[in-house]
Amino acid sequence: MEVTRLSFALGAEVTGIDVSDIDAATYDVIHEAFLEHQILVFCDQDLTPQQQIKFSEHYGEVEVHLAKDHLHPETDKVILISNKRVDGRYIGAVSAGDYWHSDLSCQAQPNLASFLLARELPAEGGDTGFCNQYAALETLPDDLRQQIEGRNGIHTFNRMRNPRVKVPEMHKGDAKMRYADRAPPDGIHPIIRTHPETGRKALYVAHRFTVGIENMPDEESRPILDAIFEHQLNDELIYRHKWQLGDMIMWDNRCTTHHAYGGIPAGQIRHMHRTSLIGDVPF
Ligand code: SIN
Repeated sequence: MEVTRLSFALGAEVTGIDVSDIDAATYDVIHEAFLEHQILVFCDQDLTPQQQIKFSEHYGEVEVHLAKDHLHPETDKVILISNKRVDGRYIGAVSAGDYWHSDLSCQAQPNLASFLLARELPAEGGDTGFCNQYAALETLPDDLRQQIEGRNGIHTFNRMRNPRVKVPEMHKGDAKMRYADRAPPDGIHPIIRTHPETGRKALYVAHRFTVGIENMPDEESRPILDAIFEHQLNDELIYRHKWQLGDMIMWDNRCTTHHAYGGIPAGQIRHMHRTSLIGDVPF
């Protein structure tokens, strides 16, 4: 097995390994690399849903995603991230990554890690960006950091409460059911969180879910969040992945955010299998 750094910002590629057939010592080596590099790209993985679940479960408990209409038909532990349609219905979450986010930061216990496996890819487009939130915090201007120190962010699943995001055209008709009715109570989390395993501090806010700062009027929190979101777009913090079939990326939601850039030509399919692990309450 070889682990090769992918970019200045974060990430490593792992080659020479079939994750469906590894021993306990290798799981541990992968865990160390995961904590160091924040995202790992495993190349050439031809995994069944059960094999992906088994690999994921070595690092925690797999969560059944709240978007029940997009779960894999054979197992509720895999969610489909896909623009495929069957009988006119989108079988997967099409817009899951359309804005920067950390998975389900809108929950009391957001996801620890996620695993995304590329099963079908378009000829172009469909890249995913990953942003290093340790580095985002370390490079944040002091005056901005002072304004968020000790503060909590408010995170919601409900797109209709977030002026920075749109309800996708295809979901305009059922937006209330899709975003408001299934939204868990707001996630209220430290804007600067401590990684429970590395002990390092990371920024923990992003466009898709963060809508405010607890105990701060919106007029005051809006420019602070806008400035942080702008800062997080700095190229030096981001690794942009161009997917190959069989790539599986494992990312650490406690110290990274990610975003699907889209740009898929009309009529082309991008079909991915995702598992996610239940995380701790951020502190
Ligand atoms: C996600 O946000 O989990 C999906 C990212 C992607 O589709 O690239």
